[in-house]
Amino acid sequence: MNIDRETYWSGIRKHYRPKQPLFLNDYIRGEILSEDDFAPIRELVYRLFAKTLDPEHPNDSNTDKGRNRTLTQLSETVRFVLHRDLDLMTELDLLMYKLLDRRGLLTGIEGFQFPMNVRAVHPLPPDGYVEGAHATDHRHCDPWVGAPDDMINCFLYVQADKDTSILNLYDVKREQIEACSRFRGSYLEGAHLVNSLYAVPYTPAAGQFIIFDTFVPHNTVRRQPGMRLSIDFRMRRTNPYGVLDERWDAGSGGWDYYWYPNTGRAKSFEERTRDEYARLRKVGNLSGLEFREKNVAKLQAQ
Ligand SMILES: [Fe+2]
Repeated sequence: MNIDRETYWSGIRKHYRPKQPLFLNDYIRGEILSEDDFAPIRELVYRLFAKTLDPEHPNDSNTDKGRNRTLTQLSETVRFVLHRDLDLMTELDLLMYKLLDRRGLLTGIEGFQFPMNVRAVHPLPPDGYVEGAHATDHRHCDPWVGAPDDMINCFLYVQADKDTSILNLYDVKREQIEACSRFRGSYLEGAHLVNSLYAVPYTPAAGQFIIFDTFVPHNTVRRQPGMRLSIDFRMRRTNPYGVLDERWDAGSGGWDYYWYPNTGRAKSFEERTRDEYARLRKVGNLSGLEFREKNVAKLQAQ
């Protein structure tokens, strides 16, 4: 069953009542996670960074000292490419799935981005990046440049403070969501839709979790001098195998990002893949299976 945007969000407004709310807007909700919820995610994310920086001698991701060392090492890089260990990515996928499930945020969710984006955002953008029409420094909605239009975006600050780069979110009402959902084009071309909006004010901090509709305009604003670590991923309200064409492996923003949610509680990439194939076979979607196999081979080759 597919759930439409309004049904999803009216459910969220009614049922998602965080203990420490951060955003309570129509299409943006968020909270400050408790230490119990946040600590295992933080540990895992730092483990991913520490393993990429020095696979032989990773820093301890369980202590402040080890994590600070990772941050220092990251801040010494100019551009950092995370090695996406697929087993750790599966653990992260499962942790986030459970976190969202406990909050009732998965009602009507059919697809889940895997692997998630785990980012280290430097105080300064890479050379030439901001001039690009797709730079996330511009206000935008992801589907404008070809991502699916049924998405719900999730974001978690893992390391952040008042001096690190911030995800700005613009509070919009239903009519503006609909106007944004009708537009397709580059982030620069879409500027007329979003230029007069005001960002909802907040101060970023580690442990802040945010969920927003994909047609809520947003952008990254970089500030000196801090390094930001964050997770972001998208969920889909319709079958992630509903469209199988050239959009599937279009690279950044490709539709191959979206898997069935990890309800099988898979803890390793092999289990995750096996579950996915089994579900595709069960519904008889053999072309979906073929597309996923191609994507798995690509992930393993990285
Ligand atoms: Fe975005």
